[in-house]
Amino acid sequence: MIKLHFRRNDLEETNMTITDSHDAALTAEQAEARERIYALPLESLDPANEAHYPSGDIHWVFERLRAEDPVHFTAAEHSEYGHYWSLTKWDDIRAADTNPKDFSANGIITLARPVPESMTEEEMEAQRRQGITSLLSMDPPDHEIHRGAVSEAVAPANLAAMEPLIRERAGAILDGLPIGQEFDWVDKVSIELTAMTLATLFDYPQEQRRKLTWWSDVITSAPGPGRAVENQEDRVVAMNEFFDTFNDMFTRRQSEEPRVDFLSLLAHSPHATDFTDRELFGDGIVLLVGGNDTTRNTITGSVYALSKNPTENAKLRANPALIPSMVSETIRWQTPLTHMTRRTTRDVEINGKIIPKGDRVAMWYVSGNRDEDKIQNAASYIIDRKNPRQHLSFGFGIHRCLGNKLAELQLRIIWEEMLARFPEINVIGEPVRSHSSFIKGYESMTVVIPRRN
Ligand code: HEM
Repeated sequence: MIKLHFRRNDLEETNMTITDSHDAALTAEQAEARERIYALPLESLDPANEAHYPSGDIHWVFERLRAEDPVHFTAAEHSEYGHYWSLTKWDDIRAADTNPKDFSANGIITLARPVPESMTEEEMEAQRRQGITSLLSMDPPDHEIHRGAVSEAVAPANLAAMEPLIRERAGAILDGLPIGQEFDWVDKVSIELTAMTLATLFDYPQEQRRKLTWWSDVITSAPGPGRAVENQEDRVVAMNEFFDTFNDMFTRRQSEEPRVDFLSLLAHSPHATDFTDRELFGDGIVLLVGGNDTTRNTITGSVYALSKNPTENAKLRANPALIPSMVSETIRWQTPLTHMTRRTTRDVEINGKIIPKGDRVAMWYVSGNRDEDKIQNAASYIIDRKNPRQHLSFGFGIHRCLGNKLAELQLRIIWEEMLARFPEINVIGEPVRSHSSFIKGYESMTVVIPRRN
């Protein structure tokens, strides 16, 4: 394949190879895509457009916005998600995420759902009241109550208790992999380990763990051919099945001794009698979805990124003490959730622009994580960076990812077990990427673990 060498002014390191679909060494196809994005009228740029994601073109959209229009307005005529604002610089994203008073989480917290332009603020508020809400879409003081109720499940003591279990499972998964044959890493490893952890957190029967993954996929992806469900009717049936199961489990927990799983913690919270059904279901959904494809896509992303960066792979294999910083670098580089949205509670000035009261604001973590003003050589994958946990992928402020330490734990353990077993894992071709502007991940990735002589 022809490679064009696009030089960045401040590119210091010379040992870099291809990282994501966006890097120092561009293929002809990537250079063309970049040119195409730069030729578009600035006001037409719509970072929520799903079509930019599987190709990686989204990085050019954000590179341009960070330089030319860091607080960007997309009008309804340019987006199927209605009008919204985009924050693309690290400092602005952090400022909004740590200011729940001016940037409310109450309501819809991603751009995944279109909002009819004709809706008034009162109508939207009415819709929010009828819909499901969760700890992720609550402001203080409700947020602390719901987050506080479940946080023990992922507190240090419980993580320490889970570690041997995760290690045993990781080892068993890896020992069962076919050697010398092609297989799908996403299905056999990434989904398998995260589904087992999720079943533990919900104290759900391990033999039915894939049901949890499936419900999570139904919730996060639109129906369609090849998706978790084909059409809207099947989606409703699946959601109702999840709600019924959740309801049964929750009712059972109420009459059982308290223990440290998400549902028992909710059922025995001192505030349990104040929780409404729509809040409980909402919390259930966030707890189910939060730990599912995020961690799964980071596991897959780590294997992919290391296969594309042989120098980094060699560094890791020579020095396994780099596993924790490799994990953090992968979480930054992958950015499994591209953004969260907030709604302004008053006219707010940010980086020279006034965002009117009531408008939706997307905090694009995926862009902030590549902001060169904050992170040197941000497009590159470098596993021994100085401050590897300096990234936006877990958000900031009161909603900062509740499961961040659990995600890192799973990643660390699977890599410790992988390094002890496999000197090489070869990625075959390119992975199939998710078609989403919210979840940045992989549908499948073919690999081969070579047979040892
Ligand atoms: C919230 C990312 C793993 C549970 C969040 C947020 C992000 C995020 C971006 C919203 C932050 C904000 O709005 O400021 C990730 C990533 C993960 C991951 C990248 C893996 C690499 C997990 C795991 C769990 C989890 C393993 C386990 C249960 C949650 C919950 C919230 C949350 C419950 C809501 C917190 C709140 O609103 O207070 N996560 N997450 N996440 N995450 Fe994670």
